[in-house]
Amino acid sequence: MEVKTSLLDNMIGVGDMVLIEPLSEDTFIENLKKRFDHNEIYTYIGSVVISMNPYKSLPIYTAEKVEEYRNRNFYELSPHIYALADEAYRSLRDQDKDQCILITGESGAGKTEASKFVMSYVAAVCGKGQEVNKVKEQLLQSNPVLEAFGNAKTVRNDNSSRFGKYMDVEFDFKGDPLGGVISNYLLEKSRVVKQPRGERNFHIFYQLLSGASDDTLKKLKLDRDFSKYNYLSLDSATVNGLDDAASFRTVRNAMQIVGFMEDEVQSVLELVAAVLKLGNIEFKPESRCNGFDESRIKDKNDLKEMCELLGIEQSVLERAFSFRTVEAKMEKVSTTLNVAQAYYARDALAKNLYSRLFSWLVNRINESIKAQTKTSKKVMGVLDIYGFEIFEDNSFEQFIINYCNEKLQQIFIELTLREEQEEYVREGIEWTNIEYFNNAIICDLIENNKNGILAMLDEECLRPGTVTDETFLDKLNTVCAEHQHFESRQSKNSKFLTDHSLPHNCFRIQHYAGKVLYRVEGFVDKNNDLLYRDLSQAMYKANHSLIKILFPEGNPAKVNLKRPPTAGFQFRASVGTLMKNLLTKNPNYIRCVKPNDKKAAHIFTDSLVCHQVRYLGLMENVRVRRAGYAFRQAYEPCLERYKMLCKQTWPHWKGPAREGVEVLLKNLQVPAEEFAYGRSKIFIRNPRTLFFLEEKRRQCLEDLATLIQKIYRGWKCRIHFLLLKKSQVVVAAWYRRFAQQKKYQNIRSSALVVQSFIRGWKARKLLRELKHKKRCEEAVTTISAYWHGTQARRELKCLKEEARRKHAVAVIWAYWLGLKVRREYRKFFRANAGKKIYDFTIQRIMQKYFMGLKKTMPSMSPVDKSWPARPYGFLDRTHQELRRIFHLWRCKKYRSQFTEEKKATYEEKLAASELFKDKKALYPSSVGQPFKGDYVEITKNPKYQKLNSLAEDKVLLADVVSKINRANGKGAPRIFLLTKKSLVLADQKTGQVKASVPLLDLSSVSVSTQSDGFFALKLKEGSTSAAKGDFLLSSDRLIEIITKLHRIGAASADRNQINIDISDEFLVQFKQDKVCVKFIQGTPKNGNGVACKRKNNRLLEVSVPSP
Ligand SMILES: Nc1ncnc2c1ncn2[C@@H]1O[C@H](COP(=O)(O)OP(=O)(O)OP(=O)(O)O)[C@@H](O)[C@H]1O
Ligand SMILES: [Mg+2]
Repeated sequence: MEVKTSLLDNMIGVGDMVLIEPLSEDTFIENLKKRFDHNEIYTYIGSVVISMNPYKSLPIYTAEKVEEYRNRNFYELSPHIYALADEAYRSLRDQDKDQCILITGESGAGKTEASKFVMSYVAAVCGKGQEVNKVKEQLLQSNPVLEAFGNAKTVRNDNSSRFGKYMDVEFDFKGDPLGGVISNYLLEKSRVVKQPRGERNFHIFYQLLSGASDDTLKKLKLDRDFSKYNYLSLDSATVNGLDDAASFRTVRNAMQIVGFMEDEVQSVLELVAAVLKLGNIEFKPESRCNGFDESRIKDKNDLKEMCELLGIEQSVLERAFSFRTVEAKMEKVSTTLNVAQAYYARDALAKNLYSRLFSWLVNRINESIKAQTKTSKKVMGVLDIYGFEIFEDNSFEQFIINYCNEKLQQIFIELTLREEQEEYVREGIEWTNIEYFNNAIICDLIENNKNGILAMLDEECLRPGTVTDETFLDKLNTVCAEHQHFESRQSKNSKFLTDHSLPHNCFRIQHYAGKVLYRVEGFVDKNNDLLYRDLSQAMYKANHSLIKILFPEGNPAKVNLKRPPTAGFQFRASVGTLMKNLLTKNPNYIRCVKPNDKKAAHIFTDSLVCHQVRYLGLMENVRVRRAGYAFRQAYEPCLERYKMLCKQTWPHWKGPAREGVEVLLKNLQVPAEEFAYGRSKIFIRNPRTLFFLEEKRRQCLEDLATLIQKIYRGWKCRIHFLLLKKSQVVVAAWYRRFAQQKKYQNIRSSALVVQSFIRGWKARKLLRELKHKKRCEEAVTTISAYWHGTQARRELKCLKEEARRKHAVAVIWAYWLGLKVRREYRKFFRANAGKKIYDFTIQRIMQKYFMGLKKTMPSMSPVDKSWPARPYGFLDRTHQELRRIFHLWRCKKYRSQFTEEKKATYEEKLAASELFKDKKALYPSSVGQPFKGDYVEITKNPKYQKLNSLAEDKVLLADVVSKINRANGKGAPRIFLLTKKSLVLADQKTGQVKASVPLLDLSSVSVSTQSDGFFALKLKEGSTSAAKGDFLLSSDRLIEIITKLHRIGAASADRNQINIDISDEFLVQFKQDKVCVKFIQGTPKNGNGVACKRKNNRLLEVSVPSP
């Protein structure tokens, strides 16, 4: 639940002075002091806010505070400037009333700060959005720019506004800011050229010199040292708590946000620099022949630099400082300026330059922040004007400033005191008049068109003849002498003749806020605000865009001989417009009070505060407030606002508005003393009654809102419900359809399952029956088969039994018959009949044997090994003998068919068999090979013709053999030629004879027992052929070669038979060496071929693959 706070909760002193009891000046001040001591700087007098300057930063301007005061009733929370800002903003937004916030108080009382708080609060609570935020930001950022150029340190305030500012902030109907317009009032330009002791020139000069970069300063031809510039006072160039360099950055940034172009900023800074340079131009007198002094510029360097900055021709400006041209009736008169006049001209130029620059800045800002739309706008004006000030030496500026404050006080009195009281009378409300000081008389003294001080001054300025400040004072002394607020030594009023506090060259005005002594010196000049035309024309000639704009009167084409309006006149007019403007708006007051003169926190100087309370008329304010009514409103809007609080008036009241309001208040039981009925308005005495009405209204609005909400929600829910219902019907229909479909599918699939089960069950049953039937049938068949089998076996057994019996009977019968025959015929046989029968039987058997053999004889092939089986055991030997005879016979028959040649071949084969069978493993493979003899076709091959012719005999064998190299065991192909007498080894390719050995020289041949083709031809020792050593050769046809060699030896009668030596190790005579040739069974890694390897000098190893 929201915790409600009230103005009265935890109150320090009294928050609203209206409630103070007893009311006296002392209690009033006491209350302010008590609250000030507790940092409660704001106090109300009804809707007026009194603000005490705390001279220290307080944590009461945070975003949380903004939220706290947002949309709350004015008296709901403890007094705060935000409450006033919120009230003003809401009545602007909700009630469409233009507002103005009038901030008054003397210099240093906190007006500018207060205006900034109001602006920032409004910015925080009004609408948001990209465009709106930009506008807000521009409005807020216009402050630093204007403060830099328009504020200065004074003895009263380190950041004293030296110009008046009124800012209209424009809002749209939603309360979003659209833009703004700033009006400025008379800048205290005299400060540019001279500052009172302890004060400074405008901030911007110090900020520029402290904060600008070296580069910028160089461009502006400036030096960072303040002391180099005559226009800058040195004694308080730096101010505690003011960081000029940082401020300069803030200002530049603000200018950028507000929308200044970079070149515009540069131009502005150039003008500021030019003012500083101008101050440094000094003059010296130069005597002329006519006896007058003429001024001359001492050092032209500053003039030169200034002219460069502004693009002015140096000579033009130099001349403008030396001569003055007066134009009258088409005549031009040029007079020389003396030194004093030159200084006057210089300072006038500087002041004009700066003040015009300031006005240009305000216009430029206005251009940026002006509202872009032309829709109707609501306006909130914030007035922050220079405060009332009393210096030691008060001049024209103070006079103007104080006049302005006087006018503001007037408007306050008009609206809060006089107007209010008059209203009661007008409305016929019972009222006891309250006395207060009306400062209208002072305003009249100053601004009266006929004999007001300003009018006198203007008159004096415009009058022909010699016009001085003294003549002006004389005039005042005569015209205003009788005025009770005017005091002067020279006046006709004798009571001041002896007043020594009044110097002769001064006059004193009793302002509402105190007496101020004005020194008349400079009044006429300042009012005239004269700038010699030569100077404005020189400025116009400048080649600088901004300067040209600032001095339009310098345009020779637009020479205006009419005097420009005086400063006083202008100010009076603008203040008049301002006042009119303020009167059209709903005023909200912030009355700033300064607690001490030392700019110090925690010090509360009673006398100072008391003085301010008095002149501000705060006590009278409280009295009027207490006696009067806090709130009034015309009957129509009042009824319109609160009609919902009563059944009779809601929603429409038919009768007159006043009666409606009466019914309303009666109905609400508002005590009669709390209100009064005026002629056109209802007056409500106490704010609390108003709050009560507002609270009721708020509750009622809440109830109404709730009712509307309720009806709307009901309607919405009904619509929603109907929609849901409709949807539900559709959904249900769909769902039912879906459910039925699903159910149907389920039933269908269940039926199918059941069906399939039943069919399965039936099929199984049928199968079972069929199987059973089949088994039964099979069983029957089996049983019958078994039965038949049994029967058959039984029958067979019987038959077999019977047959055995029959056979036995037959045998027994035969035996018995035999016995009987033998017994019967025994007597008829001879003694050798048995032998005859035996022979006969044998004969019959042999006959049968031979006859059978004849039919089963094998073929005539000698290799056919078949032979019929023997029929009888006793013929075994006969049978074998017959087989042998038959074989021999068929061999003979076979041989008888041979030709001689074939016979010789077989003989050779036979010889080979005798030599090698079972001795050499190579032999069996040679059996099937016929011995062809000539394998190289020596007779036909022309290559071997010569070789053929060499052989004298018939060639028995010609073949290619390998001659084994004795060194490495490798073979070389050679033709091996064998005749009856010799053997020849020849080259295979050429047929050239390599060796020819007569067979007579051959002693033996050595071969291995294995399947290799190696053979060694050993020569007889001492024979001619033996010189070269034995031959170790290898041939696939070894069996044929050796057989043929052996047969030649066997056939010839004259020589010894050649020995065939079959052994796995034999010696071979190579030249001188005897080498052992050894045959071994080869290992598988040696491969299938025969490999011969020389192991050492004595051993040649031949590895032969195992068979
Ligand atoms: N609410 C505040 N909180 C903290 N300091 C404040 C407050 N109001 C004023 N001050 C201090 O007082 C100084 C003077 O205030 P401000 O410039 O607003 O005075 P002013 O009334 O505008 O004076 P002038 O008429 O000379 O312009 C400020 O610079 C600030 O230091
Ligand atoms: Mg100020």
